Amino acid sequence: MELGGQTALVTGAGQRIGAVCAEALAKAGVRLALHAHQSRQAAQTLQARIRQQGGEAELFFADLSDGQQATRLFEQVTEQMGCLQILVNNAAIFHPSTLADLSLDAWQKMMAINLTAPFLLMQQFARQKKIEAGAVIINLIDQRIVRPRPGHLAYTVAKSGLWTLSQMAAVELAPTIRVNAIAPGPILPAADAAQETFQRIVAATPLQRSGSAQDIVEALLFLLKQPFITGQLLFVDGGEHL
Ligand SMILES: NC(=O)c1ccc[n+]([C@@H]2O[C@H](COP(=O)([O-])OP(=O)(O)OC[C@H]3O[C@@H](n4cnc5c(N)ncnc54)[C@H](OP(=O)(O)O)[C@@H]3O)[C@@H](O)[C@H]2O)c1
Repeated sequence: MELGGQTALVTGAGQRIGAVCAEALAKAGVRLALHAHQSRQAAQTLQARIRQQGGEAELFFADLSDGQQATRLFEQVTEQMGCLQILVNNAAIFHPSTLADLSLDAWQKMMAINLTAPFLLMQQFARQKKIEAGAVIINLIDQRIVRPRPGHLAYTVAKSGLWTLSQMAAVELAPTIRVNAIAPGPILPAADAAQETFQRIVAATPLQRSGSAQDIVEALLFLLKQPFITGQLLFVDGGEHL
């Protein structure tokens, strides 16, 4: 399946995995709606680079902890760029939490960004009047959902919910829209993570190395182009989920 000429919204596309995925899609000829929240300057730099390379990219800013902003984001994107064929729910927060310590506010913020915003965007994506067969949603999950470790309770619950939502949507939205997911393992350490913690996780991973954002790109392109796959969770994690 050719991606050229399709239009995609990638959330959290200003930096890190989202930016690498967005740039790869642009190289494949996809018209990009780049969403960012705080990484405004990085997103502008990425937009300029994509345009220099002959690609098409528009910028949209929204705080996805606010459901109204998530809804407005989708409206703005489609008003400006028309019907979307690809939605990549990449934006997330990865804050540590335990059952003992978690506040209601922190729980609700985690659910809002990592589960409710993808839900709202998926719903609006599916409701587009001109949506046609071949449209695809890709949700970024995490291998932790099958091998929960203590310390990221709300995050793991939200990502587990997003995977269940992905499967339900894959059934409900077929045959028009395919819904797939990617479960990364150790790709990039969180900005506030200690390097030793990341290296300890990497050392305990069967393949004993970290992955790269390019590994996520390969999975993304495969799931976008493979027309007979829906409801699939692809682990890109060096075997960490085992
Ligand atoms: N990194 C890994 O090794 C790894 C491992 C497992 C799973 N994952 C998953 O893979 C995806 C990408 O990972 P990553 O490490 O590149 O993610 P990240 O850097 O932690 O976050 C991606 C983006 O989410 C956006 N975001 C955070 N809060 C937001 C808010 N309130 N409103 C709107 N956007 C918000 C940020 O945008 P701004 O910067 O513009 O604010 C950020 O750039 C995530 O879904 C993550 O859970 C990653």
